[in-house]
Amino acid sequence: MTRERWSSRFIFILAAVGSAVGLGNAWRFPGQAFNNGGGAFLIPYFVALLTAGIPLLILEHAIGRRAQAGAPAALKQLHKKAEPLGWWALATSFVIVSYYAVVLGWVANYIYSSFTLAWRDRASDYFFGDVLQISDSPGNLGGFSIPVLIAVVITWLLVWLSLFNGVKTVGKVVMWTVPVPLALLIILMIRAVTLPGALVGLSYYLQPDWQALLKPDVWAAAYGQVFFSLSILFGIMIAYGSYLSKDSDLTTDGLIIALADAGISFLAGFAVFGTLGYFSNLTNTPIEEMSVQGVGLAFITYPEAISNLPGGAVSITIFGLLFFLMLFTLGLDSAFSIVEGIVAGLVDKFQWNKKKTTLGVCIAGLLGSLIFATKGGLYWLDITDHFVNDFNLIAIGIIQCFVVGWLFGAKKIRAYFNETSEIKFGRWWDIMIRYVTPIVLLYISISYLIENVQVNYGDYETRYIVIGGWAVVAATLVVGLIISIFRDRLPVADSQQASAEEEG
Ligand code: PFF
Repeated sequence: MTRERWSSRFIFILAAVGSAVGLGNAWRFPGQAFNNGGGAFLIPYFVALLTAGIPLLILEHAIGRRAQAGAPAALKQLHKKAEPLGWWALATSFVIVSYYAVVLGWVANYIYSSFTLAWRDRASDYFFGDVLQISDSPGNLGGFSIPVLIAVVITWLLVWLSLFNGVKTVGKVVMWTVPVPLALLIILMIRAVTLPGALVGLSYYLQPDWQALLKPDVWAAAYGQVFFSLSILFGIMIAYGSYLSKDSDLTTDGLIIALADAGISFLAGFAVFGTLGYFSNLTNTPIEEMSVQGVGLAFITYPEAISNLPGGAVSITIFGLLFFLMLFTLGLDSAFSIVEGIVAGLVDKFQWNKKKTTLGVCIAGLLGSLIFATKGGLYWLDITDHFVNDFNLIAIGIIQCFVVGWLFGAKKIRAYFNETSEIKFGRWWDIMIRYVTPIVLLYISISYLIENVQVNYGDYETRYIVIGGWAVVAATLVVGLIISIFRDRLPVADSQQASAEEEG
């Protein structure tokens, strides 16, 4: 069986940028910068990008291309015991996509309501009341929120359609889902920085607090942000690399993808903080008192700010639509990249039919999303996101560096990707993979564990933390181990050859 191929180098770059650029750029980066030293955050961010983000991104594309297979099989080729690591990454990304799709469902509700301006001047009530219909505690699921449920089903349908014909359809979809949100972001940014008061917001965003560089947490935040933003350690970039032909230029493409992702994050900060500055000026509320990140930013603060734009209902509708369409298109290609990563792993191992597997994973993902579409879903989403995203990601990162850097040999992989690449990486790359990245990750994970054992995340009751956090972490690990116990089904050509050899 010949493996699917990206239709061109450009499409590969677009697809990888599409996966990398998502909610993480628009709602996570600006807030992270704001909370971690403002303009000074750019220094740890770029250090993290150069020492861990770019080395790992290129590593993942390289091992995917080398194996011509998704994460589990690719890792297994590096070391025979490393397959469970790949499945652990894919089980983790399954959990992530099941709630990522729900967040996209919330965004879809806002898109729909932009036509009636149902969120105008009441974003908080609209979000918690109309959309989430939120219950009083995680223990009270309270049935589905119907608007969320409908939107989640539509989102999964779009994810499935985007993957319908494998990388061929992905190639066509990313021709839209990468440039469109970028264009929308640029329009939003221009509007934002030309609003009165924008400069106040921008100075909050960019004013460097050099003291912050002395805090280890700020460095940890930078590394975490880089991993999440580049979609590395989730098995996805390995799958995307597996559709490359053996002569592709991995270092140049990796640099382009990583820098595009970082640049878009940086731009998003202007759109967000320019608008917040205007809003702060208008309402005399200091920016410190606003939600500048995540759910609070996208669904409450930003729509409130847009509700107050000059130009009345027309301008509010237009900018509301632009913002939520941008979020949706940013997120959609990140969501389907996760599904593609999982499908690649399953198809490679079990030789299942790819179309059916894609449909099956989408249905399973939709079922996984159901819990987050209940009235208590936001709580579970918050808890699960915190644990799975941070803890699994870091643990997988450490093991992956160990497998590649120590068991297989960083030097060998470097020689492999340098051979076909215009920009050659030197020994520094080995040092990053063998020492710098794992040591930083180890530090982050230890301080993370200490923090989470001392205080319950988000003040949730311990039983909810155990169920939504630690149990999910454990479940991903167990699922990863179980899947790797199954024997690989050999591709038809190989099994014919094997039986011929047996007979002979
Ligand atoms: N990189 C995406 C973002 O920044 O929003 C998020 C993401 C996509 C994370 C795909 C993980 C992933 F597998």
